[in-house]
Amino acid sequence: MCQYSAINGLIQDWHAVHYGAFITGGAGLVMVEAAAVRPEGRITPGDVGIWTDQQAQLLAEIPRFAHAHGVIAGIQIAHAGRKAAIHAPWNGGSPLSLEDGGWQGESASPLAFGEYPNPRELTIPEIELIKADFVAAAERALVADFDVVEIHAAHGYLLHSFLSPISNQRTDQYGGSLENRMRLLCDIASQVRSVIPANRALIVRISASDWVEGGWDIKDSVELARQLQARGVDMIDCSSGGNVATAQIPFGPGYQVDFAKQIQQETGMPTVAVGGIQSGRQAEEILESGHISAVMIGRALLGNPRWPLQAAKDLGEQVPWPKQYVRGYLYTD
Ligand SMILES: Cc1cc2nc3c(=O)[nH]c(=O)nc-3n(C[C@H](O)[C@H](O)[C@H](O)COP(=O)(O)O)c2cc1C
Repeated sequence: MCQYSAINGLIQDWHAVHYGAFITGGAGLVMVEAAAVRPEGRITPGDVGIWTDQQAQLLAEIPRFAHAHGVIAGIQIAHAGRKAAIHAPWNGGSPLSLEDGGWQGESASPLAFGEYPNPRELTIPEIELIKADFVAAAERALVADFDVVEIHAAHGYLLHSFLSPISNQRTDQYGGSLENRMRLLCDIASQVRSVIPANRALIVRISASDWVEGGWDIKDSVELARQLQARGVDMIDCSSGGNVATAQIPFGPGYQVDFAKQIQQETGMPTVAVGGIQSGRQAEEILESGHISAVMIGRALLGNPRWPLQAAKDLGEQVPWPKQYVRGYLYTD
């Protein structure tokens, strides 16, 4: 989850403490927030970057600490597309003007998201450069010793904007048919997979639905999962929404779980369910209901970074606590 607290894309003390708390909190896999593959791909100026070796060297501290505690470390690589260049949420989250250090978003087509300014349409040579940026980012993530790389293709950011007919009105090989709209993500997935060894995992996070008539939908997502499976992607992480400002999304407990279920059921591809999962019991019920391979927890971990240890205790599971914390076990509910 973006912390909007990096400087020039470099992680700070905040990130070390933040991810350290999840690592010591019992998570099996800790996924580092959207890391921009190039400066224009940041959501805010405070986003984490992975477009330089120096950024990756600092990020390496996270897998090092995770591995010392038996935890798997992942990083999400991302480009914000037409949703780039906004203020941090605590400063209102509105678009940043050029005078305030903003920049123009780059997207599939010059179509704005909601009240954001119009992005510019990427040219074919620029699209090739962006593919190379994703590959270079994945290579840096491997040098930093991350076990998992996740390509961010959800939430209305660049790769989602190519997938959805609502944000992609191109007439070249990247627009029009479903096959053409999936091309950029499929090419990036193949090229990134070619640099990731078999003993490390490649996940793709998608928005399984735009939640609007005529938008990207679950049927498209099932086909996309098939295509990504053929390109060596290991798992689909199923989120939704983010591409249409006016979409009516039925937020609620586990509101995206059925997307993950359907994709795994129809393709056999392992999926992750995320969204509105608040308790260990709820997470366990989702996993036991079948056709879902893992759950990811977001905001509940911000509320309590030791949520996984608490969940294990609530479910009567014995999981090791960090030796430094064992004396606190009896003092939790
Ligand atoms: C502060 C914050 C930052 C987020 N940043 C990211 C991000 O970097 N990448 C991403 O895919 N999702 C991001 N999300 C979405 C979460 O990963 C998650 O999908 C969403 O919050 C729903 O899950 P939850 O109900 O467990 O929080 C963010 C959410 C929050 C609250």
